Amino acid sequence: MTDPSRTRIDTTLARPERLSPDAGGIARAATLLEQGALVAWPTETVYGLGADARNGAAVAAIYAAKGRPSFNPLIVHLPEAQAAFTYAEWTADAARLAAAFWPGPLTLVLPLRADHGLSELVTAGLPSVALRVPAQPTARALLRAFGGPVAAPSANPSGRISPTSADHVLEGLGGRIAAVLDDGACPVGVESTIVGLTGTPALLRPGGLPVEALEAALGAPLLRPGPPDAHSVTAPGQLASHYAPRAPLRMNADAARPGELMLGFGPMACDANLSDRGDLQEAAANLFALLHRLDASGQPIAVAPVPMAGLGRAINDRLARAAAPRPDDPPET
Ligand code: TXA
Ligand code: MG
Repeated sequence: MTDPSRTRIDTTLARPERLSPDAGGIARAATLLEQGALVAWPTETVYGLGADARNGAAVAAIYAAKGRPSFNPLIVHLPEAQAAFTYAEWTADAARLAAAFWPGPLTLVLPLRADHGLSELVTAGLPSVALRVPAQPTARALLRAFGGPVAAPSANPSGRISPTSADHVLEGLGGRIAAVLDDGACPVGVESTIVGLTGTPALLRPGGLPVEALEAALGAPLLRPGPPDAHSVTAPGQLASHYAPRAPLRMNADAARPGELMLGFGPMACDANLSDRGDLQEAAANLFALLHRLDASGQPIAVAPVPMAGLGRAINDRLARAAAPRPDDPPET
């Protein structure tokens, strides 16, 4: 008879477990996290690559699996807002935003408490921490079952297209994780909106919660740090090239050029459509899945203009990074 307590967890398993989003699958995922393994799990935005945020070796394994630069800190996921007090100095604006939008697609960057207990790798040595309480029921069930903070970036190789299904996760990280908790497609489809609250409230990343809603709740506009360029990192992780398909991507295209595949928005002739009725919520939910699908052809992608309002800001942000020069591209002359 095998003694289950002596089962060793190999975080480089060639064939990860695909777990169902039921009580058994969630319990297994929580056990793997307790044992320091990497578990990909669904949130309403994208799939995350989770590890115990207090376990330095487990967090180091996230960076290794993704090939992520270690100066780029991770979001810590919590089952409810109350748990945030353990890790961050709470502010009036944090209370207002958490009450209005948690659980949900919002990440708050707050001053780190002295006695936080998180691995230094999670915060990349910064005096701040990014916290999020996701709404997706399986995500919440896993966080409750695990009972601790879960560090999780998007579950894709660094710089590539984010995953909105378990299949995307397995395509990108298949040999490098212990398990994926498969709960189908992510309904929001773009990552959380990140708001910095270490000074004047600032929009660090547009995302699944529209900026207009945040500004209405705060009663004031958010600071908007300038767009990143290839040579500066304005906010950690806001790298110019990210979310990149293998082939080039061109934005604001009226039509495909020879050899290109056309990703449309609204009624038009195209190879795939973000939303043929021009709905931004539907477009966000489809964005990464359609980029994955078109990228499989290896052909360049042209994308129709997407309006710059509501979720359109997050969609345009992801497309601009997907279109940006890659670090290994030859320098422009
Ligand atoms: O929707 C999401 O946010 C997903 C799901 C899994 O929760 N996660 C996600 O994580 O998008 P990631 O690692 O792909 O993006 C996290 C971003 C990075 O750009 C990182 O630089 C930023 O959050 N970040 C983390 N901690 C920070 C901090 N202390 N200050 C500023 N930015 C921070
Ligand atoms: Mg990411």
